[in-house]
Amino acid sequence: MSLEFADRIRRIPVYPAADGYALGGDVALLASNESPFPPLPGVVEAARQAIAGAQRYPDPGNVVLRGALSDRYGVPASHIAIGNGSCDVLLAAGEALLEPGAELVYSWPSFSVYPQLAAMSGATEITVALDSNDRHDLDAMLKEITVATRLVIVCNPNNPTSTGCGLGEIAAFVEAVPSSVAVVLDEAYCEYSTLDDPDASIALLQRHPNLMLLRTFSKVYGLAGLRVGFGLCGSEELRIAVDQVRQPFFANVAAQAAAVEALRHQDEVTRRVELTIAARLALVEGLDELGLTTADSEANFVWVNLGEDADEATIVKGLRERDVLVRAGTALGRERYLRITCGTPEDNARLLAGLRELI
Ligand SMILES: Cc1ncc(COP(=O)(O)O)c(C=O)c1O
Repeated sequence: MSLEFADRIRRIPVYPAADGYALGGDVALLASNESPFPPLPGVVEAARQAIAGAQRYPDPGNVVLRGALSDRYGVPASHIAIGNGSCDVLLAAGEALLEPGAELVYSWPSFSVYPQLAAMSGATEITVALDSNDRHDLDAMLKEITVATRLVIVCNPNNPTSTGCGLGEIAAFVEAVPSSVAVVLDEAYCEYSTLDDPDASIALLQRHPNLMLLRTFSKVYGLAGLRVGFGLCGSEELRIAVDQVRQPFFANVAAQAAAVEALRHQDEVTRRVELTIAARLALVEGLDELGLTTADSEANFVWVNLGEDADEATIVKGLRERDVLVRAGTALGRERYLRITCGTPEDNARLLAGLRELI
């Protein structure tokens, strides 16, 4: 007899994870929007010291980390949800808010985890097309909100298209969403945006108890491998609901300690952001010279239009043979596109040299 699984197992899409993790050697890893910069020595040391006490469970209240985040972002610690990566907080928000009969609104193409939220909960998902510049069409999203809507997600800057919306547009959008509907503003890449001060959206939390800003240590803080993310919530109620649906220990000792230490090095974060923005500009220029157009990037990656006649799969394979990993647009919701992370100058040069041979 075969096992009988819950119905949602048939619904949940398989996450299109990047491959190549097992590749050894000198490979340009430009497929997962990670930081090319390793954690600072002080951060590694903090994690090492924490591991020395790993016979104990981690603090389930994440008190030190929540306190450090509260100091850094000016949000009460009771409004801050920690997670095993920001995906963990996102999925918990879905579990806390959604159920059959409820509706979830988000744009597409966007982050590949969003479809899981509806599939897991049995809620109905409404996807809204991006505009002609691959940006969120916030007015069109507003039109999809009904009495059944429980959650709206806006990814800003958007993964995979890299485009951003300005704070004015976002503020007007959140204002227009009924206060009974939760809004998750996924800001995994906000520090790379030149549109606004990345901290400016935090002020919105004071006016909107239904808002959560989703942030992560995986990108600018360079700790993707340790898995720490957080949600800055407009209300304690929202944070409590997100914590309630999860097991108590979702951030391990090394992750908590490393994150606290990472927050102490904001000057280095700024320096790394500046280097990434410079790499982005150089990459866009190099792609432009090859005749390839890119969406206006506000993130640490670019979204490249390969053109109508391009053979996306052959290009991705050809790059891989040249030890360059990028993401095929097809896996992310749009054919004949590539999503390319801004890497080190050497990685970017290798990518451009490979593309020059392949297109
Ligand atoms: C838009 C967006 N949100 C959230 C995440 C999740 O980040 P993490 O779970 O590593 O914090 C990612 C990761 O790539 C992302 O692209």
